[in-house]
Amino acid sequence: MVHYRRVGDIPRKRHILHRRDGAVTFEELMGTDGFSGAASLLYHRRSPSALVRIEEHSSRPVCWYPNQPLRPHHLRASELVPCEDDRDPVTGRHPLLGNDDVELAWVAADASSPLYRDATADQLVYVQSGDAVLESVFGRLGVTAGDYVVIPRSTTHRWSLRAPVEMLVISARGHVAVPARYLNSQGQLVEGAPFSERDQRGPEPEPLLVDGEDVPVVVRTRDGLSVHVHATHPFDVIGWDGYLYPWAMSIHDFEPIVGRIHQPPPVHQTFAGAGFVVCSFVPRLYDFDPDAVKVPYHHSNVDSDEVLMYSAGNFMSRAGAGIGPGSMSLHPPGFVHGPQPGSRERSAEATRTEELAVMLDAFAPLSLSAEALEVDDPSYPFSWSR
Ligand SMILES: [Fe+2]
Repeated sequence: MVHYRRVGDIPRKRHILHRRDGAVTFEELMGTDGFSGAASLLYHRRSPSALVRIEEHSSRPVCWYPNQPLRPHHLRASELVPCEDDRDPVTGRHPLLGNDDVELAWVAADASSPLYRDATADQLVYVQSGDAVLESVFGRLGVTAGDYVVIPRSTTHRWSLRAPVEMLVISARGHVAVPARYLNSQGQLVEGAPFSERDQRGPEPEPLLVDGEDVPVVVRTRDGLSVHVHATHPFDVIGWDGYLYPWAMSIHDFEPIVGRIHQPPPVHQTFAGAGFVVCSFVPRLYDFDPDAVKVPYHHSNVDSDEVLMYSAGNFMSRAGAGIGPGSMSLHPPGFVHGPQPGSRERSAEATRTEELAVMLDAFAPLSLSAEALEVDDPSYPFSWSR
């Protein structure tokens, strides 16, 4: 997030003595791109480096399979069976699709998570259902169904649930950002962008200030999970300022751009990452030329694997293919995809669509996990022939 934010008690200058209750605080720079990118300065009451133990953490190994022989897929993610022991938004994740740039996981959770720090990836979470608070060293950020949540890598956080949640978790090797073309040279969202700063929500203005000793934090790296047991609670931050922090935006605040004839998917772009983009398809007026074909034309994704997660509403172009909320389709290069038979005729009299969906285009081939293949619809590749 490119907006300066200041929370709690911070000193008048960077890198000077700062006392709280007579004790000197511990300044932490959390910065990206080697002291040159977005950064924040946090002031802890105790050293954030003080560990008392380092432990291993078990994790389920993920077996990845290439999309071979090449085929489109329909993954019924909502049919994944939650693990008996891992029922929280962190340890209960089911990785489904991935490459070296990005990984997509689904999680249905009814318990709050442990403290967690992903040292490998920026996380972009889409909340499909439920209600939760993202608690972090930066404070509290309430989220609910329809929210996108951006969590910068190495942010120590936990999910505190107010109701069971379903989430699509996108883990990105690079940083997750707003598309550059939406920003002016000062970093402000331009007129004509489909959302504005008023739609972006940062953490609440009060620090969390949690006390505790011997506090375990699950740390994710490319090679698996570790546990760092901190001497004192990482949520002891009395204040922070900067440009790097978790933030949220509701898909319902994305303002659709419509036209007389079909507008291509880039008008729906919401985020950009290294090796992928994310688009939001939201309720909107259909194309209004009398001869407009309202469902998308057949298209070849020459350069990308296209993943669509269907969130809510009626999916006119996929009618008859068994697609519903929680479905994820994968349309790879080498396969021409388009509306299912009868979709164009069914949409002829419609003036608007109520569909709600999240699309991710990955610029390198995605592999499928064993769990993805367990909820794969074997008939989907042939659903255009019916
Ligand atoms: Fe497509």
